Amino acid sequence: MLGVGVLASGRGSNLQAILDAIAAGRLSAAVRVVVSDVADAYALERARAAGVPARFVDFKAAGGREAFEGRIVEVLREHAVELVALAGYMRVCGPVLLAAYPGRVVNIHPSLLPSFPGLHVQRAAIEHGAKFSGCTVHFVDAGVDTGPIIIQAVVPVLDGDTEETLAARILRQEHRIFPRAIQLYAEGRLRASGRRVLVDAPAPGLDAAALINPPIEA
Ligand code: GRF
Repeated sequence: MLGVGVLASGRGSNLQAILDAIAAGRLSAAVRVVVSDVADAYALERARAAGVPARFVDFKAAGGREAFEGRIVEVLREHAVELVALAGYMRVCGPVLLAAYPGRVVNIHPSLLPSFPGLHVQRAAIEHGAKFSGCTVHFVDAGVDTGPIIIQAVVPVLDGDTEETLAARILRQEHRIFPRAIQLYAEGRLRASGRRVLVDAPAPGLDAAALINPPIEA
């Protein structure tokens, strides 16, 4: 059983989606520990409610980013974590964590990367006038939101959207694709080819998988 460690800084709805997918039998993995850099993150509550060890690691007390990440790595190793899932973890993943888990850190990001990396990306997509946005699960590399893409979901941007309505539409899809990406990893169905991740999965029907927004009227 794949041992997953989740790092989260906030409300933890993606953590919950992972826990729910495991409970529903859609994900063959175990969340072995949830780590947060925020003492009162709701994600830690969700972990406790699910009977998963919940740990706060204090950035300030650690004395620097390397020591902080070293402490996180210790906690992950104590719990036999094999794959690290960043689920709303609001810090950049540094070299200590990446060296400890090379090619074994995945992140969920609420845009269609490589468009709109960084923060406030739903607002950025609206302001840019994009007709589609979505979410991306990717392997983490040394950059910010730059690593190899595993899976993406697309949603339309509607004329009346606010940052909140678009974020909510995207979040629904995040909750579908993050557990799915972890399951693909757990099943050994992901293969690196340069910076591409080739996925051993059925090919989509081509026109059926295309999206047009605004739609072409019948
Ligand atoms: C999500 O939108 C995720 O894509 C981004 O941070 C948000 C975390 O939400 N990285 P939650 O804490 O999982 O509810």
